Parts: sequence; C-alpha cells; structure tokens
Amino acid sequence: MAILVPGGAGYIGSHTVVELLNKGKEVVIIDNFSNSKPEVLDKIKKITGKDFKFYEMDYKDREKLEKVFEENEIEAVMNFAGYKAVGESVQKPIDYYMNNITGCLVVLDVMKKYNVKKFIFSSSATVYGEPERIPLTEDCKTGGTTNPYGTTKLFIEQILKDLYASDNTWDICILRYFNPVGAHESGLIGEEPQGIPNNLMPYIVRVANGTLKELLVFGNDYNTHDGTGVRDYIHVVDLAKGHISALEKLEKEQKGLFIYNLGTGTGYSVLDMVNAFEKSTGKAVPYKIASRRAGDIATCYADPKKAKEELGWSAEKTLDDMCRDSWHYIENSL
Ligand code: UFG
Repeated sequence: MAILVPGGAGYIGSHTVVELLNKGKEVVIIDNFSNSKPEVLDKIKKITGKDFKFYEMDYKDREKLEKVFEENEIEAVMNFAGYKAVGESVQKPIDYYMNNITGCLVVLDVMKKYNVKKFIFSSSATVYGEPERIPLTEDCKTGGTTNPYGTTKLFIEQILKDLYASDNTWDICILRYFNPVGAHESGLIGEEPQGIPNNLMPYIVRVANGTLKELLVFGNDYNTHDGTGVRDYIHVVDLAKGHISALEKLEKEQKGLFIYNLGTGTGYSVLDMVNAFEKSTGKAVPYKIASRRAGDIATCYADPKKAKEELGWSAEKTLDDMCRDSWHYIENSL
C-alpha cells in the first residue's frame, strides 16, 4: 500500500516524502514542477537511499490521476500541490482557486471512486484570520482571511468537514501549519522561492549571502516585545514528522476528522529572528525598518498541546537548527 503525495517535489512535500521513506513507507509522487525542480527527486533518493514511483502530471488532470489509482494500491493521500504565495494569490485569484480548490476536489472525487478514504490536508494558521486569542487553539474561530491563498485553505477545510459529515468512513486530518522554515540537515533539499522571496527566512538568507541588499522589517510599532511581528517558526523536518504522526493516527484509530496545529508554541519577532540568524551563522543581516505590510497581524503562535496529546508529536528542533539549516541549504544550492 502506497502513500500518494501530490506536490511531493515541493518544499514541504519533499521533506515529508523523506520522512515517509525513512519510515519504510511506499511512496508515489505526482508533481508538475510548477514550483519545484526535477533534481529534488534524485536528492530525496540520495538522502534516503530509497526509491519511489513518480508521475509528472498536473494533479487536476482527472484522467491521469485515475490511471495513478489504477496502477498503484493507494492507502492514503497527503496533498502538497497547493499554490502558496500570498501576494501572487491577490493578483491571480482564479489560478489560486482553480489549482488549490479544483485540484483538491478532483483528488477527493477520484479517491472516492477508488474507495481510498484517508486524507491529510496541508492547511495553515492563516485560517484563523485575526487571532481570537493567543496562543491559538484549534477551536479558535476561523475566517476573515485577507487573501485568496488563505481563503482556499479555509474553503477546503469546510469542504472536508462537509465531506466527512456526508460519509463518516473517511479519515481526515487537517494540519494547520504555522511558519515553516529551515531545510533538511543534509543541505540537499530546502525552500526555493521563485524571484524575490516574500517570506522572512528566505529573505534573511539572501541578505546574508549578499544576493539582496537589506531586509525590510515590516513595521516596528506592533504591540509586541520589540514592536515587530511575532510568529511561530517551525523547522520543516519537524513539520514533516507531524504528517507521519497524523498518518499513523489515521492508520491505527477509529474514523474521524481531526484538526491539529503544527507549531512550536513559541513566538519570535522579526528582530529575534535576525539576531538568532546572525548568532547561529556569524553572518550579518543588515535591515531597515519599513512600514507595515498590508494584511499582516501582530502576533500569531500556536498552542501545540492537542497535537502532543493526540498525535504524540511535538517540535524538537531549535531556533538555532532552523537558522543553521536554512543557511546550509542556501550555501549548498547557490
Ligand atoms: N517580514 C518582514 N520582512 C520581510 C518578510 C517578512 O519584516 O521581508 C515579517 C512579516 O511582517 C511578519 C514576519 O516577518 O511579521 C513573517 O512573515 P512571513 O511572510 O515569513 O510569514 P507570514 O506569517 O506573513 O505568513 C506565513 C506564510 C503563509 C501562512 C501564514 C500562516 O507565508 O502562507 O504564515 O500564519 F498563511
């Protein structure tokens, strides 16, 4: 029985495939390399010493997807094929709704046809909108997303809840990621944003290596300990391991729809991140304070207790690991 991984060549997908293979799971990846590179597949093999099946295709292509289900015995699907750039989603809402929502619907419909009913969904803390309270627990209100990307996550969560309500033989796990950073310790796979990065850590590493001149810190007048935005940064390998724990729960337990925050439970500000990065790597990160970025909130971090209690999972890597591995990857890949 294999785990089907749409988007398995991408940032979070590739790290999760590594953990699946390390656990001895059979893996089938589908990817169209719209936001990833074919070399990643070889690197996964190099890291794990294991092989997997691969289909180069768009996960929305129903005919091809059915063929994948015909040719493989799929046990569960972990879907990483969503688009994820917040700013781009504002410019291209149709692309985002089409790829993220239509894609997910096609996958679910084909799963239903082949009676495969274990699904793990990559959601995001963005579904909480303006946090009702901090730390965020899974029962905090959701909604009020400020961009189409976030809204696709919110809508898909609702689709999954409706699906489960219609047929409780599905096993569904919704994982709400906080801020994934870092890279595999081998330095072989990591995050590769196209163009100028929007997210903090990819920007910091490019300032540190001289590709970008300075970091713009978006606002220092938030109600936080130093005025800059506070987030829950989580090492991508910890995040990947969270998916394995979720899969194990769905394999072992009773039917259900489960929702978990995947975060560390600790919030760091933008300046905390700059300082930690400089300390960890010895590289300077020049920065300038700029105005707030539209749609940003002051503080967002998880209460990770539910995942610990019910999945037996918690993040283990430190902020130092996150900085060091992000830097190691960029040094290795440029
Ligand atoms: N920031 C800067 N300068 C930059 C980039 C970011 O100061 O050049 C600041 C932001 O203002 C924010 C913090 O760094 O305070 C983190 O920003 P990111 O863009 O790295 O991350 P966000 O928290 O805005 O968004 C991330 C993901 C989204 C996801 C969200 C969930 O990018 O996909 O977390 O909370 F929806």
